[in-house]
Amino acid sequence: MMVPELSAHGAVIPRIGFGTSQLGDCGEIVATALKLGYRHVDTAWKYGSEQGVGEGIRLSGVPRKDIFLTTKVSHEYLRAADFARSVDESLKRLQVDYVDALLVHWPTIDNIPLAETMGALAKAKREGKTRHVGVANFNIALIEEAMRLCPEPLVTLQAEYHPYLDQSKVLAYCRSKGLIFMAYCPLARGRMFNDPVLSEIARGNGKTIAQVALRWLLQQEIVAPIPRSSNPRHMAESLDVFNFSLTDDEMKRIYALKRPDGRIANPAGRAPEWD
Ligand SMILES: NC(=O)c1ccc[n+]([C@@H]2O[C@H](COP(=O)([O-])OP(=O)(O)OC[C@H]3O[C@@H](n4cnc5c(N)ncnc54)[C@H](OP(=O)(O)O)[C@@H]3O)[C@@H](O)[C@H]2O)c1
Repeated sequence: MMVPELSAHGAVIPRIGFGTSQLGDCGEIVATALKLGYRHVDTAWKYGSEQGVGEGIRLSGVPRKDIFLTTKVSHEYLRAADFARSVDESLKRLQVDYVDALLVHWPTIDNIPLAETMGALAKAKREGKTRHVGVANFNIALIEEAMRLCPEPLVTLQAEYHPYLDQSKVLAYCRSKGLIFMAYCPLARGRMFNDPVLSEIARGNGKTIAQVALRWLLQQEIVAPIPRSSNPRHMAESLDVFNFSLTDDEMKRIYALKRPDGRIANPAGRAPEWD
């Protein structure tokens, strides 16, 4: 199937992507995802999945130019020289000449000047090592600062988002700046699969809870979820979300599921002050 796309500042990003954290040696899995129709693969140096993603791309037979590939530079490597080395190592492990999006994975915890990191990010783009740049896990104040300091336009924020987490402020901000919101942990790592409200809405639409959660994200125009799965049946199911719509009332009932303790990725000492 053809996945619809979103565009921002010249970047065209598939509405659903494929996450690869915790998948490790994932060549076969990524090849399966690409054969099923996924055209955005999300990886990171930190996940240890870059080599597998590279293998998966080659195994799949899908042309490189048809794939949107995202990787990230970890918080340990935000000094300019470390950053450049990390990018080169990522390209080598992925066995590609460029990625489509290069993101700063988490903000610095070592007071490395953001200007230095943004300079290194922009340089990777100017050198053709990435087509687009962005950030992950930045709060609004940090994104604002990053946009001011980066000589190249940021196209995306990647951050956690699912029905148990209220991201209304960040979403409104991204919308105002024309940024695509790549939603990670879109299935809350499975925590909502027994939710009675989601279950009822899923039954009413003849869909699964995972599909309803993804559809809820997709109906918030700028959101591009990146679910991860190693089960081909689940992979296919998560792509099969473009043939139904949630009503306004269903959307509202799902917004109401947000919880103060809904956040999953919140590493102590590394997470910024969330909005
Ligand atoms: N930037 C960051 O800091 C950051 C942080 C976290 C995640 N991420 C990215 O976001 C991706 C997704 O987040 P995540 O991996 O943490 O969690 P997730 O996608 O919310 O949840 C993954 C879990 O959902 C299950 N699943 C997937 N599709 C399903 C379906 N259709 N039906 C039922 N179960 C399904 C998977 O099990 P099966 O394998 O059995 O299907 C897996 O256990 C990551 O892989 C990574 O690429 C980025």
